[in-house]
Amino acid sequence: MKSRSQADTGAQAAALPLVELKNCTMEFPGVRALDNVNFTLMPGECHGLVGENGAGKSTLSKCITGENHMTRGELFMEGKKVRLSGYSIKESQRLGLQVVHQEFQLMSEMTGLENIFIGHYARRGGLIDWKTLNRRARELMDFLQCDVDLNVPVHYLRTAEKQIIQLAKAVQSESKVLILDELTAVLQEKDILNIFRIIGILKAKGMGIIYISHRLNEIFECCDSYTVLCDGRHIDSGNVRDIDQQKLIKMIIGRELTQVYPKMGTQFGDTMLEVKGLTAPRAFRDISFYVRSGEVIGLAGLVGAGKTELVQAIFGTHPVTGGTILIRGREVKIKNPEHAIRLGLGYIPDERRTLGLNMKFDIKENTVLPSMSKFRKFKIFQDHRAEARSAYDINEKLELSYYSLWQSVEKLSGGNQQKIVIAKWMLRNSEIFLLDEPTRGIDVGAKFEIYKLIHELTRQGKSVVMVSPELEELIGLCNRIYILYEGSIMDIVEGERKTQEVIISSLLGVNGK
Ligand SMILES: Nc1ncnc2c1ncn2[C@@H]1O[C@H](COP(=O)(O)OP(=O)(O)OP(=O)(O)O)[C@@H](O)[C@H]1O
Ligand SMILES: [Mg+2]
Repeated sequence: MKSRSQADTGAQAAALPLVELKNCTMEFPGVRALDNVNFTLMPGECHGLVGENGAGKSTLSKCITGENHMTRGELFMEGKKVRLSGYSIKESQRLGLQVVHQEFQLMSEMTGLENIFIGHYARRGGLIDWKTLNRRARELMDFLQCDVDLNVPVHYLRTAEKQIIQLAKAVQSESKVLILDELTAVLQEKDILNIFRIIGILKAKGMGIIYISHRLNEIFECCDSYTVLCDGRHIDSGNVRDIDQQKLIKMIIGRELTQVYPKMGTQFGDTMLEVKGLTAPRAFRDISFYVRSGEVIGLAGLVGAGKTELVQAIFGTHPVTGGTILIRGREVKIKNPEHAIRLGLGYIPDERRTLGLNMKFDIKENTVLPSMSKFRKFKIFQDHRAEARSAYDINEKLELSYYSLWQSVEKLSGGNQQKIVIAKWMLRNSEIFLLDEPTRGIDVGAKFEIYKLIHELTRQGKSVVMVSPELEELIGLCNRIYILYEGSIMDIVEGERKTQEVIISSLLGVNGK
């Protein structure tokens, strides 16, 4: 393996690697998640770990932290061999390893302060020494150069602020290695830049960072080195400055990806969905937009701008106090999701684990669930073979990485779970699709497949309303983009105004309609 660490400058060459994983193989029943992988992390290095969904990135990080017990291989920390029998998360934390995931691991009823120090409370005479903890928390925030209110329960905080608390919790003890597993998947540009700034501070302190993300531009913005995994195998490692995005994509998906966005149509049919003056207290007010047959429209806005509540309101899961919704020109009062589905709406939620999938069901059941009636023979018998065939076809199209349709969805990688959420609505034959961050956590190759599917839907005359934090994606797919700012439509962007600059200034509330 040619690792950046070996190819690096004199100052670092003398240092011992913080983490060195040699010939790591990890087998789960029926799956070889890692196959003889080598990985090295040096002090002061931010190392990007990339690969398709199910490539083994999270598994690799879990082998390092002791959450997974590798089947074969060796682990060294600062040159010392780690005894793998009995190695555990607790032990890895003692050695200075910390992980921050995209999914929150915070206690939502507890304050930031309590969350940061949970398990490490300073005590005086048996009582918790809040004065010391408060001082340490202030020092920590100063060190990270962040200002987050640590005295309110964390569920009141913005997503980005919760991530800062998670980071503070991870770096408060003597941590040397920080693993960030798709941390930025739920964040917006501005907050991502803040994370990059914090990574800079941690690197300067000599910490090593393993950075996992599907947003490849981030790898180029904040990582020094990269490792590509494919199907559990080590494809390449090296310096980020020696490669470009095209090369990286080719290594990840094994082929070139020249045109990422399909050419979208410009001829549209009748208005399928129209929203007039829709209002929900504390979420959004006076929202009006429309989408025609064959058209994709976008909803953009910072976290908390009201986009998710808006699509939920249309799908009947968020109460509204005013305004009207029209489907094919007819006013409707959508009472609940079942009603919305009957009216031809399909919804892909942003929170896949709680809203999108039933973790107790297998892949096939999850995929066909909303379209059960489509597979009914003579109105009584369920045609299980047809169900399985359709589930197979759609999941193959999305390049799901799985070994059986009858396998539980729970153990699938995050991105593969998201693909199933998408597959089930694609199968359902809805007329109007509400997609809330459909490509979150999805690898570049599969993103491309999803863009193609969206394109295909519009060719069939369907309508798509899409929420996405990735502006490039909105610009590439949407005919018109509505920009929400603090619950109101701040701007409508189409034609020549569809540029990153215009959208960003509207997102921040700078320009108007
Ligand atoms: N606990 C487990 N039991 C069984 N199989 C597992 C388990 N954890 C992971 N796998 C399998 O190992 C493979 C690698 O999964 P992993 O979560 O490491 O992928 P990933 O690269 O992190 O993907 P993503 O980008 O989607 O998060 C997948 O096929 C997954 O289904
Ligand atoms: Mg993962």
